[in-house]
Amino acid sequence: MSVTSYPRVAGFRTPRALAEHLLRLGWSFPFDDLILPAPDSPLAQPVEIPWRGGRRRVGNRFAVQPMEGWDGEPDGRPSELTRRRWRRFGASGAKLIWGGEAIAVLPEARANPHQLVLNAGTAAALEALRAEVVGVHRQRFGTSDDLVFGLQLTHSGRFCRPHDKARLEPVIAYHHPILDARFPAVAGCPPLADEDVSRIVASFGAAARLARETGFDFVDLKHCHGYLGHEFLSAHHRPGRYGGRFENRTRFLSECIAAVRHSAPGLEIGVRLSAYDSIPFALDPETGQGRPVPLPEPLPYTWAFGVDPAQPSRPDLSEAKRLVAWLDSLGVRLINVSAGSPYYCAHVQRPALFPPCDAYPPPEDPLAGAARLVSAARELKRASPATAVVSTGWSYFQDYLPHFAQGVVREGWADFVGLGRMMLAYPELPGDVLEHGTVDRKRICRTFSDCTNAPRNGMISGCYPLDPFYKARVEAGRLREIKLEMRSVPARG
Ligand SMILES: Cc1cc2nc3c(=O)[nH]c(=O)nc-3n(C[C@H](O)[C@H](O)[C@H](O)COP(=O)(O)O)c2cc1C
Repeated sequence: MSVTSYPRVAGFRTPRALAEHLLRLGWSFPFDDLILPAPDSPLAQPVEIPWRGGRRRVGNRFAVQPMEGWDGEPDGRPSELTRRRWRRFGASGAKLIWGGEAIAVLPEARANPHQLVLNAGTAAALEALRAEVVGVHRQRFGTSDDLVFGLQLTHSGRFCRPHDKARLEPVIAYHHPILDARFPAVAGCPPLADEDVSRIVASFGAAARLARETGFDFVDLKHCHGYLGHEFLSAHHRPGRYGGRFENRTRFLSECIAAVRHSAPGLEIGVRLSAYDSIPFALDPETGQGRPVPLPEPLPYTWAFGVDPAQPSRPDLSEAKRLVAWLDSLGVRLINVSAGSPYYCAHVQRPALFPPCDAYPPPEDPLAGAARLVSAARELKRASPATAVVSTGWSYFQDYLPHFAQGVVREGWADFVGLGRMMLAYPELPGDVLEHGTVDRKRICRTFSDCTNAPRNGMISGCYPLDPFYKARVEAGRLREIKLEMRSVPARG
């Protein structure tokens, strides 16, 4: 299937036509024919979420997903580019800002040398950034009392690149037969020893204390996208306390929760979770298409969290449901449902018509990927109704994002509609929807993937096709050249 074989979302004349197409793909979705402004829109309704044993009011149902820019200062402080992006998050109208972007708990835990770090040297700058974002929000929307703003804390694990954008310095929970082969820097790298896990856990606690002191409302203990926390969830083959049975694979998370509670009492905790995963995909040089890589051994496939071991191309949400119920029992009732990883199954994690340069043409209609993501949030919400759930995968709904988001929130599939790439292209979308009942079609993210292509080629991220600020930068020209060069090479292995 080539990119052009999938119908363009903008080509559907009505949300109903899109819903019929989704149905043909096997997904039944609620939607509205019209965009409703506030106060009638389900997206405008405040919601009381579980909070420190009580409730906290969040002003509406839009959430900003964490979106890294590869543009922090070398010491981990935000740069002017970071500030611009975050200010736009504040001005968007969304009342939940989930993390801003992944922030490393240790300098060596960074996924790139320009990732933000939360430590004593950077805390004041993050405090100022928080105040700036909240100030922008208050000025634009009159109040920030109903704005909830957390930080996403991460250890990049297998994908650490703390010193050089091009050099992996992996920290792994276990050796993975497919991922080790794909990222050879792992060869000879011993899995993290049990004794060393406690130092990382302590750094999550220390970062959480700083997050609380600097005024953030919660921390997300990131467990998604192939990074360390997520990798522990699939450590079936790791011996010892952190591998094997469910209780061991979630021990890292439970220890991080305990560390946060100890170091930052009263700070709320959320978890962004890759609720399901996939066999790694790769470009097939013969066909130029994306395909799952050959399995290393006969079934069952036991190298992922949230896939059916007997049919590993199918998600299996049973462990994710168990995890969310277990978190509920620990008093953690704020979940952001994502999936997969940008490093080995980009089409699962960020469905796009135009794939990132290091990926492969979409092996399915990206709408199916987006529908699968939103439906996973629905299933987890249904299984743990007391938990506040943020859904992911919305940018690909494009022009019809508000119509479907209204339906999903009205039907209680999720509490929040989380926007990722759309926030880089068109951060005013929530405000436009709620204030005017419209969207500006010229500003809609069309998933060209340049926000991923730029960092994959060592440049800062941003919306190069649609944000005039990035369009005018020198990196935009360099990106165009890189894409032209790639087009002249028929099929990359
Ligand atoms: C450039 C870029 C940076 C991202 N950075 C992060 C991040 O720091 N933390 C995270 O959890 N997800 C990150 N994501 C994933 C998004 O939050 C989101 O899950 C994904 O883009 C799918 O949502 P969308 O369809 O609304 O874009 C990133 C995605 C992109 C494209």
